[in-house]
Amino acid sequence: MPRIFSGIQPSGELHIGNYLGAVKNWVALQREFESFICIVNYHAITIPYEPADLKRRTHEMAVSLLAAGIDPNTAALFLQSAVPEHTELQWLFNAITPLGELERQTQFKEKSSRLESVPAGILNYPVLQAADILLYHADIVPVGEDQVQHLELSREIARRWNARFGEGYFAEPQARLTPTRRILGLDGQAKMSKSIGNTVALLEEPAAIWEKLRPAVTDPARVRRTDPGNPDVCNIFQLHKAFSDAATVAHVDAQCRSAGWGCIDCKKVLAASMEIELVPIRARAAELAAKPNLVTEALGDGAARARTVAKVTMAEVRERMGLD
Ligand code: AMP
Ligand code: TRP
Repeated sequence: MPRIFSGIQPSGELHIGNYLGAVKNWVALQREFESFICIVNYHAITIPYEPADLKRRTHEMAVSLLAAGIDPNTAALFLQSAVPEHTELQWLFNAITPLGELERQTQFKEKSSRLESVPAGILNYPVLQAADILLYHADIVPVGEDQVQHLELSREIARRWNARFGEGYFAEPQARLTPTRRILGLDGQAKMSKSIGNTVALLEEPAAIWEKLRPAVTDPARVRRTDPGNPDVCNIFQLHKAFSDAATVAHVDAQCRSAGWGCIDCKKVLAASMEIELVPIRARAAELAAKPNLVTEALGDGAARARTVAKVTMAEVRERMGLD
């Protein structure tokens, strides 16, 4: 069975951008692929944080992922810190990764430009990501568009390592994108992101979602209710394509172009479509929040399965690198 690996930072809030860009694919593909889904808490400590807060956010992320449909009996869901082989392999990859390639990463440039003092962990972040993936010999990495450059670097590291220590040992992992690979925030401007504050959380209540949807940016050229709109440039229409069925999407398109509906009418239909998908997810999250042991057990079981694979890879890698 081909393998999937993917990771998510324990931001404490799984938002609909994460869900549509990556997590929905993990759920859809978990039966077709042997899946390793990792909450990457070692990546998360590259920015300032409080230990107790990180712990809470990590648990909340596990709850959200299970609620979204990750089946812990099928996929291995685990914390990165529970499998020390991730950081061990990262160190070995550091030895063959050129500094220039790390400095060229867009996310490094963005993150480091905002900081006075840049932790080395921000620079080495994609090396740890390569170790995450290659440790499991993953074939497919389902991610949003913002991770494509990191994935290219993972392939580059696999090629370099293979050329030096064992041709063909690491497969080159391929990114798997969804049709909704880049969800914009409700400002209609920037990528939906917790750090920007333009998100809708997967577990948000309908009233709170509506408070955000109501003022959300639509087609900027549509000023009056009687102006026809252009769905192709409307962020709300993109969300319709993600949440509404095909007939509704076609109807929304026609009503927008003919000014049959105002933007509020359109947003009400979107809110209803979102509810259909989100109600069962919120219900599962409420159940899991009441049973924290279920979450801890799922993570423990996932880590044990992950570690079995990781240990084999590390033994082979140490041997090939003359470290055994
Ligand atoms: P992160 O929260 O940065 O750990 O991201 C987890 C996953 O969600 C990664 O695969 C990202 O590419 C994906 N992702 C994050 N934000 C978005 C977005 N706005 N649209 C689509 N995918 C996203
Ligand atoms: N860097 C990814 C993000 O911010 C998270 C991540 C870490 C990841 N390791 C990974 C994603 C391995 C895919 C595969 O979203």
